[in-house]
Amino acid sequence: MVYAIGTGVANVSVGDEVVIHPGHWDPEDPTTKSGDPMFSNSAAIWGYNTNFGSFGQFCVAQEHQILPKPPDLTWEEAAASTLVGTTAYRMLFGWEGNTVRKDDVVLVWGGSGGLGTQAIQLTRSFGGIPIAVVSDTERGEYSVKKGAEGYIDRSRFDHWGEPPAFDDAGGQKAWTAGARSFGKEIWTILGTRRNPNIVFEHPGEATIPTSIFLCEAGGMVVICAGTTGYSAVVDLRYHWVRQKRLQGSHGTNDEQAIAYNRLLHEGKIDPCLGKIYAFEDIGRAHADMEKGLEVFGNRVALVGAAEPGEGAP
Ligand SMILES: NC(=O)c1ccc[n+]([C@@H]2O[C@H](COP(=O)([O-])OP(=O)(O)OC[C@H]3O[C@@H](n4cnc5c(N)ncnc54)[C@H](OP(=O)(O)O)[C@@H]3O)[C@@H](O)[C@H]2O)c1
Repeated sequence: MVYAIGTGVANVSVGDEVVIHPGHWDPEDPTTKSGDPMFSNSAAIWGYNTNFGSFGQFCVAQEHQILPKPPDLTWEEAAASTLVGTTAYRMLFGWEGNTVRKDDVVLVWGGSGGLGTQAIQLTRSFGGIPIAVVSDTERGEYSVKKGAEGYIDRSRFDHWGEPPAFDDAGGQKAWTAGARSFGKEIWTILGTRRNPNIVFEHPGEATIPTSIFLCEAGGMVVICAGTTGYSAVVDLRYHWVRQKRLQGSHGTNDEQAIAYNRLLHEGKIDPCLGKIYAFEDIGRAHADMEKGLEVFGNRVALVGAAEPGEGAP
C-alpha cells in the first residue's frame, strides 16, 4: 500500500495497492539510460543487495519498481512470486536468439521450488514443453500439476559435480554413461529423442556439466545462481562443437517485470504460495531456508496483513 510518494513521482498515487519488483538501479547511470539497467554497475536486487525495509512495515522503493497488485490475489499470494517470477521471465525470454518458442523443450532444475514452478508455468504459457528435475516423487507430482510434461528424479543418479578430467578415459566413460542415462529420461517423457533447447539452471556446480552435455546444439543453458557451488566445469568440446550458449542472468528489468506482472493479472500464472510465516517469525523463515527446510513454491511473511487471506475480494 503506497503511503507517501517522493517529488517527481508521476505514475504512483497514495493508496495504490502494489507489488515491488526487485530490480534497483541508479536511473542516472549511463548504462541504465542507454541499455538494459541490469547491466549497469549500480544494478542491485532490492531486499537482497540493498535493504530499504523489505521486511519492515514501511519500506522505500523506486517508482519504476512499483507495479499494480493483481486484485484477485491475496497480499501473500501477490508477494509470493515477484522475485522468482520476474527472474524466471528474464531467463526464459530475455536472451535474444534463445527465448522459449512453441514446442521448445525446457529442462527445469528444482521443478517444485520457487524459480522452478515459475519457469514451468512460463514455458507452458508460451507453448514450450517443460520437463522438471526433482528429488522425489511428491515434488515431481507437484511440478506436473504446475504444467511439467513429466519429471526426472535426480536422486536415482550419482554423476553429479565435477566430471573426471578429459584424459581419464575410464572416469569419463562412467560419467558420460550417467549423464546419458539421465538424458534418456527426457526422451522417455517426450516419447521422442529430443534434447532440451533451454536448460534452466540454478544449482550450478553439481549440475552444470550435465546441463551443458544435454543441451541441444544451438541451445542455451541459462543460470542465475550456484546453490551447490560456483566452481562449475564445462567440457568445452560439447560446448563449442555443438555451439551451445552458457548465459548468466540476474534479476529483471522493468519491461520483463511488467510482462510477468501482466501474466499474474491475467491469472495465467500461479504464484505458488508454499508456506506463510507471521511477521514475528521472519527470522525463523530465514533460519528454515538456511537449514534447507524446503517448501513447494515460495515462502512468504505477512507484513501488515493480520492473517492470511486478506487483500482479495
Ligand atoms: N540471480 C537472481 O536474480 C536470482 C533470483 C531468484 C533466486 N535466485 C537464486 O536461485 C536459487 C534457487 O532459488 P529458489 O527460490 O528456486 O530456491 P528453492 O525454492 O529452494 O528451490 C531450489 C531447488 O533446487 C533443487 N536442488 C537443491 N539441491 C540440488 C542439487 N544438489 N542438485 C539439483 N537441484 C537441487 C531443489 O529441488 P529438488 O531437491 O527437488 O531437486 C529445490 O527445490 C537460490 O540460490 C536463489 O538465491 C537468484
